[in-house]
Amino acid sequence: MVKKGFWGQLDKPFFALAPMYDVTDAAFRRIIAKYSTPDVIFTEFVSVDGLVHPEGREKLMHHLWFDESERPVVAQVFGINPANFEKVAQLCNKLGFDGIDINMGCPEKNIVKQGTGAALIQEPTLARDIIAATLAGAGDMSVSVKTRIGFNKEEIDIWLPHILESNVAHVTVHLRTRKEMSKVPAHWDLMSHIVSMRDDIQKDTLISGNGDVTTIAQGKKLAQETGCDGIMIGRGVFGNPRLFTDDVVDVSVEERLRVMVEHTQLFSELFTDVKNFAIMKKHYKAYANGFENASALRVQLMEAESAENVAHIVDKFLQTNY
Ligand SMILES: Cc1cc2nc3c(=O)[nH]c(=O)nc-3n(C[C@H](O)[C@H](O)[C@H](O)COP(=O)(O)O)c2cc1C
Repeated sequence: MVKKGFWGQLDKPFFALAPMYDVTDAAFRRIIAKYSTPDVIFTEFVSVDGLVHPEGREKLMHHLWFDESERPVVAQVFGINPANFEKVAQLCNKLGFDGIDINMGCPEKNIVKQGTGAALIQEPTLARDIIAATLAGAGDMSVSVKTRIGFNKEEIDIWLPHILESNVAHVTVHLRTRKEMSKVPAHWDLMSHIVSMRDDIQKDTLISGNGDVTTIAQGKKLAQETGCDGIMIGRGVFGNPRLFTDDVVDVSVEERLRVMVEHTQLFSELFTDVKNFAIMKKHYKAYANGFENASALRVQLMEAESAENVAHIVDKFLQTNY
């Protein structure tokens, strides 16, 4: 039996904010929840095998910080040991998450070498054990999986049934193989086939497509064409926390930069002594982009070392240019 939980209550097509390590941290998620409304928010991934050790847990807990405004909010985890998935599912349930998502798609070498992320596509028995253990520890939470269409080659017909037969509430399919990383366009042409497999094997599991979607309008069109229940968006949100709004809002440069300053302040408040300030720089590249003198502003932001520096740089830029 599938326990759909909150997934079953969402209007379709629903839009989810993708898990992105060192991007969708507690600060950015809170900014996104304030300026637009994704239907579901995923945390960046965190290791279950790290979280079960007292020392590891202390270092990793910031990945599991969330604010009520983010609900429904899903903790994304990765790892190799089913018993640890069960324990971490219990932990996430206690923390009040709405769902827990198992990463079976990360293509990074150091993750795959550990036998986790996308490596699980080649270990379906272990993958099923991990799902069963997570379901056992999840309590009220919904359990979902995020994966890819294959490891070295497209093999969705062999791989997806293992997940669907495990009765998860939701599957996100990033429409590329592990080998393709993010180097080729996502294979949206496979999505309607994936939906029909779902209809044959487990009608109650909801399915989202992921890859290269940058606007809500594009996502709605793809959902209509392919029949998927939801769309997950990752990189499209860089520098554009308002992405998950239906209305196309014309955001002024001033507004955009004020949000960047607010994001930076929140990052500093939450993460001083926890995360390196340099993590903010990839956001600056995206915020300070596409308007006059943006490149000069970017150069200054790359030198900034604190939230105060950033606020000062932006004030001066706006006084001089607008
Ligand atoms: C910087 C970065 C970090 C990512 N971290 C994760 C992660 O922690 N877990 C995960 O499942 N996927 C991760 N991804 C993959 C995204 O969730 C998503 O599947 C991918 O970016 C394709 O979607 P997009 O084209 O909308 O960006 C990451 C992607 C990027 C760019």
